[in-house]
Amino acid sequence: MSGARRPKPGARRVVVTAGPTREHVDPVRFLSNESSGRMGFAIARAAAARGDHVTLIAGPVHLETPPGVERVDVVSARDMLAAVKAAFERADVLIMSAAVGDWRPARKLAGKWRKKDDGSETASLELVKNPDILATVARDKGDRLVIGFALETGDGLRRARAKMKRKGADYVVLNDASALNSERASVTIIGRDGSERRIDARSKDEIAAALVELTHPAPAQ
Ligand code: C5P
Repeated sequence: MSGARRPKPGARRVVVTAGPTREHVDPVRFLSNESSGRMGFAIARAAAARGDHVTLIAGPVHLETPPGVERVDVVSARDMLAAVKAAFERADVLIMSAAVGDWRPARKLAGKWRKKDDGSETASLELVKNPDILATVARDKGDRLVIGFALETGDGLRRARAKMKRKGADYVVLNDASALNSERASVTIIGRDGSERRIDARSKDEIAAALVELTHPAPAQ
């Protein structure tokens, strides 16, 4: 954790998740993915710059903590779920940009998984489903805002809408595989209210700023 500060009046308490999770097979091997964490870190930076109190829950990534952001490092999806539940209790907004591993090995071996010297050329790993953090937390969210991400190919809009409903999110940010590990991305932000906003080939900082604006609705006239 670093540099937490008092929120300004009217500021929101925002929880952001970022990066991949790691699901260990044994002490030195794991299942993970290519997520760099850049999108989530950009969101955390933009929200803190707007004066929000930000808790950034990060999987294993090589990124500096943005100024004024409270950071919690986690490894597995189950660690992330526990950290999100704890932080969301006091929050107004959750933005789930982490690429959470869907599966984990059924057992983590205490020692290194050794090759057998019996000539076998195959091995198998039993996997069990990880909890869905977004869906779990959104169930009791009340009027708090929950934003998810969806990386889709094919009929992305339809899938992302279905995902938003299934998981109980207020908004889903739809992107494609070109966003992985890159500086720029094109996204469509879809809302439960039927809204659809396309942001084309912009830096992750610009997309982050647009998302943070979404969490600060304009006061009613
Ligand atoms: O189902 P899918 O992985 O495409 O959903 C993506 C969204 O759900 C992201 O916001 C991601 O952070 C979240 N998620 C989650 N827990 C999981 C898997 C995904 O919160 N186990």
